[in-house]
Amino acid sequence: MMKSNHSLRSNRKLDHIRHALDLPPGPGTTGFEDIHLLHRCLPELAWEEVELSTSFLGLSLSAPLIINALTGGARDVTDINASLARVAAEMGIGLAVGSQRAALEDPGLEDTYRVVRRENPQGVILANVGAHTAPADACRAVEMIDADLLQVHLNPAQELVMPEGERDFRGLLANIGDIIATVKVPVIVKEVGFGMAPQDSLALVQAGCKGIDIGGKGGTNFIAIEEARRRDTCGQGLLEWGIPTGISLLETINILQGQNVVVIASGGIKTSTDIAKCLALGAGAVGIAGRFLHILIKKGEEELKGAIKVLKQELKMLLILTGTATPAAMKNIPLVITGRTAAWLRARGISVETFASR
Ligand SMILES: Cc1cc2nc3c(=O)[nH]c(=O)nc-3n(C[C@H](O)[C@H](O)[C@H](O)COP(=O)(O)O)c2cc1C
Repeated sequence: MMKSNHSLRSNRKLDHIRHALDLPPGPGTTGFEDIHLLHRCLPELAWEEVELSTSFLGLSLSAPLIINALTGGARDVTDINASLARVAAEMGIGLAVGSQRAALEDPGLEDTYRVVRRENPQGVILANVGAHTAPADACRAVEMIDADLLQVHLNPAQELVMPEGERDFRGLLANIGDIIATVKVPVIVKEVGFGMAPQDSLALVQAGCKGIDIGGKGGTNFIAIEEARRRDTCGQGLLEWGIPTGISLLETINILQGQNVVVIASGGIKTSTDIAKCLALGAGAVGIAGRFLHILIKKGEEELKGAIKVLKQELKMLLILTGTATPAAMKNIPLVITGRTAAWLRARGISVETFASR
């Protein structure tokens, strides 16, 4: 008997989790190894003066941190979303659900997403849909979980390597503009691990989106995941495809100077130092998906809370060690950019010296 679209999608969601847990990040790197912060031995700050809490598109977070879109849409993942929601609530950080398409097509699956709002009634929750979604369905996705913000994901590389994936990428920008005009919450457009070119970031901001999550290369790799699912070799030649997170962030921040928009850094972020580097590059917040999923599934909810507590504490240490009292102030500290990232920026006419001498 042929499997229905719904059961194929449910299987795919479980496969994505399984392979994301099995596969290492990469093979490409984020570029953070080329970005260096300056240690300050006279920080002139006290621990109590340092404040991690952040205003994020008018909402309040205890630190500039989001658990990025992971799952929903299969009954077996309801517990994962429930755990992520409790972790986000206790830690005071944002949480995005996975693509809600499954529940838009089958209302029987709504609870796999609604659980997030039940477990985290006061927190900052982000709805998630693909860029092809009809504006009325995007509104339903937001209402389904009483979301504060909407993420619209762009994932052409993943779609192309999926045999059942989308093949027509025309009209997405116009549809995103229609979604923005229709939904009642601010819209963030995100990539899923291949980065954003600056001209795409700029076009999205001109279409009215309030946040850009550059979702760069160096962490979860959906070409590798799709290839592992199919166990064939189509896609292997593309395993290094994408713009490293550090570079995509730098290019996007550079082109969006002066625009009223939040840039979110994500893709391969693991450590507090990675987070500090992203803030110094100008990110307003940082999203982590794969690493948090890993800790939750392999070690449990309490371990994930513990890991986030450590990230926040270490971030506070790094603020002091760079002489800054808030995450927002980090965007003014000197940053030395070396290696391939510096060569890339020079080739693109972006001044590395401006970062080093600020
Ligand atoms: C198992 C899994 C499922 C994901 N599902 C979605 C999704 O439904 N929608 C979306 O926008 N991103 C999805 N992502 C992508 C993440 O939100 C993130 O953009 C990507 O994994 C890169 O970040 P990372 O390196 O921290 O994992 C998923 C990631 C993983 C690991």
